Amino acid sequence: MRMINFGVIGFGTVGSGVVKLFLENQKEIQKRLNFNLNLKKIADPIMKSKEGVEVPQSILTPDAYDIINDPEIDIVVELVGGKTIAKNFIIDAFKNKKHVVTANKALLSEFGYEIFIEASKANCFLGFEASVGGVIPVIRTIKESLAGDKIESIYGIMNGTCNYILTKMVEERKDFKEALLDAQKKGYAEADPTLDIDGIDAAHKLAILTSLAFGTNVNFKDIYYEGIRDITNLDMDFAADFDYTIKLLGIAKDNGDCIEAKVHPTLIPKDHPLSSVRLEYNAIFVKGIGCGPMLLYGKGAGMMPTASAVLGDIIDCARHIVTNSIGAIPNRGYLDSNLQDKQIRFINEIVSKFYIRLMVVDRPGVLASISGILGKKGISIESVVQKGRAENGEGVPLVIFTHETREKELREALKEIESADYCLGKPLILRIEDNI
Ligand code: HSE
Repeated sequence: MRMINFGVIGFGTVGSGVVKLFLENQKEIQKRLNFNLNLKKIADPIMKSKEGVEVPQSILTPDAYDIINDPEIDIVVELVGGKTIAKNFIIDAFKNKKHVVTANKALLSEFGYEIFIEASKANCFLGFEASVGGVIPVIRTIKESLAGDKIESIYGIMNGTCNYILTKMVEERKDFKEALLDAQKKGYAEADPTLDIDGIDAAHKLAILTSLAFGTNVNFKDIYYEGIRDITNLDMDFAADFDYTIKLLGIAKDNGDCIEAKVHPTLIPKDHPLSSVRLEYNAIFVKGIGCGPMLLYGKGAGMMPTASAVLGDIIDCARHIVTNSIGAIPNRGYLDSNLQDKQIRFINEIVSKFYIRLMVVDRPGVLASISGILGKKGISIESVVQKGRAENGEGVPLVIFTHETREKELREALKEIESADYCLGKPLILRIEDNI
């Protein structure tokens, strides 16, 4: 039987997960294959077996190029992460006509254009299922299962850390800092949680999904993103009073002439399936003209779920090698020559309903002034709530739900409101998605 060899670069959490799953499940995997799949080498400077993942010393090497330059290795699995050496490893692997599997969302969302071109030039497979939503097979679903469909929109809970924090804030009344600490203790959030809580990680993933879904090339740098640092328990309460949940969503919409691609905390109806996605779980809600609404749900991170997605790509690639069908499914779903540049709508031009939370002095005339400023900009108010009463010039939270309005006018109105003497502190705005 033919042998397909793969090598793993990076024996960290995901790398050791891939090796562990492959070794533990090898018999079952082999039953599905008409060739032998073999792990030939693992490259990592540390050159040590991980606890619970024992491998022969003979397959360990400190040098990634022992894999990239090995003529017997067919598939290079890049799991070092980052945007510098990982990029060199992948490009050099393609130059050696090796197929690549990676989980590297930061790299693909910024340098995907260049990397996919190199893959095409070499007629090589590039698998990246694990780069979005961990084990959730969203890349394969978009590229293969929905190959006959037209995707209209995607709404995704794509960052488990943020979803965990928001869940703890709602369910256990933790404040943001406590919930973040809890996420860090559980190992979901890094010591420096910026990438997760500021929406950057979700924007990386959204750039990849938007490109695939709409046959274009969206760079992470073109995506508007906001994180969850400013959300308070009070916002959760106000949202709940109006039957909404607050979730950090990656949103992509095809508007025909242009697309929307943005990440921000969003109020969504409490009874929408995405509202029931709790803790560190991810979920991607896709709407297409044929498939209608569809929800993909699962573990978006972690050693073994991510390893499962990586191993699925390795097997997929190996099957294409033995059937001589590399390229039958284009790496980006669309043929390179048919990818189109699409304009991303600037955030200020996007129309939506808004939640505005202000801290204002509790005195007569304040609400009239605010509604006057909003009215001048053509912004119509749906509801207003004030919680509590205050004396001696102290602030009270005032929340306004608007009807649909363009963000530009809303921001201009808020600037004026913010400069009024009754406005204490910076207003918070959150976008509402009623018709997901
Ligand atoms: N840090 C990410 C998350 C997982 O919290 O979802 C890796 O993409």
